[in-house]
Amino acid sequence: MAYNCLEIDNDDRVQIIRLARPEALNAFNKELMDELTEALKAADADPKVACIVLTGSEKAFAAGADIKEMADKSFVQAYTEDFITANWEEASRIRTPIIAAVAGYALGGGCEMAMMCDFVIAADNAKFGQPEITIGAIPGAGGTQRMAKYIGKAKAMDMCLTGRMMGAEEAERCGLVARVVPKAELMDTALEAAKKIAGFSRPISMMVKECVNRAFEVPLSEGIRFERRVFHSVFATEDQKEGMKAFVEKRDPNFKDA
Ligand code: HXC
Repeated sequence: MAYNCLEIDNDDRVQIIRLARPEALNAFNKELMDELTEALKAADADPKVACIVLTGSEKAFAAGADIKEMADKSFVQAYTEDFITANWEEASRIRTPIIAAVAGYALGGGCEMAMMCDFVIAADNAKFGQPEITIGAIPGAGGTQRMAKYIGKAKAMDMCLTGRMMGAEEAERCGLVARVVPKAELMDTALEAAKKIAGFSRPISMMVKECVNRAFEVPLSEGIRFERRVFHSVFATEDQKEGMKAFVEKRDPNFKDA
């Protein structure tokens, strides 16, 4: 499918999805969100894709939901069309690992989208924020919830109540991002990490993702029980047999996604 606001690239088993609506700093309007949902679902359904990298431009990952598009919505419209829920929740249901490679602004819905990915690699010029309060709104795609869970109450309250931006170093310090790299190295670093993941067994990496995400949903004892059951199930895969045999034989494993 041809996209207007996205560029898609495939590098071996890695699918790169680039937000490309530069005239609005990649603000998510309906067209961009529909296309992104479509592209993520297509990548997730493709057995040849073992990792996804979601990125934007050097200036902006995404500056939020499109303010011009939503400014005149009424409550009844927002409520009856269940504004944003369908699309945005879909993005968080993707089972293939997703790395967000963030340069520049990741604000409002842009920050929320980055938090829906599995981890963030940030360029040193990245700026994160939930500035909705400055335009008379609140985060609407999980910002108050994911930020509180990921970086704790103090930082989440500070970010959501003041609407201030947080630079890449602070974001790494408080656990919002996994790594910070010079801007020029962002895509190389993200691709290197993605290829590393894609070099492992696809079903096993999906299990890892599912288990880590479970930690944010259930009490520890239930999470441990869930992990134990999934751990037991890896012994039903050919890739576990191959991985452990390769270790014993002192050679690289040849995973088959089976
Ligand atoms: C629509 C946007 C936009 C947005 C930027 N633009 N952000 N359009 N929605 N969220 C447009 C501008 O109107 C402008 O278009 C062009 O992009 C360039 O932006 P400038 O403001 O001229 O650039 P700059 O001075 O460099 O400032 C960058 C910025 C600023 C600091 C990121 O654009 C900004 O504050 N943007 C809004 C950030 C924000 O509040 N995001 C949260 C949105 S609410 P024109 O045509 O005028 O040149 C949200 C709710 C999520 O995300 C709820 C669930 C999805």
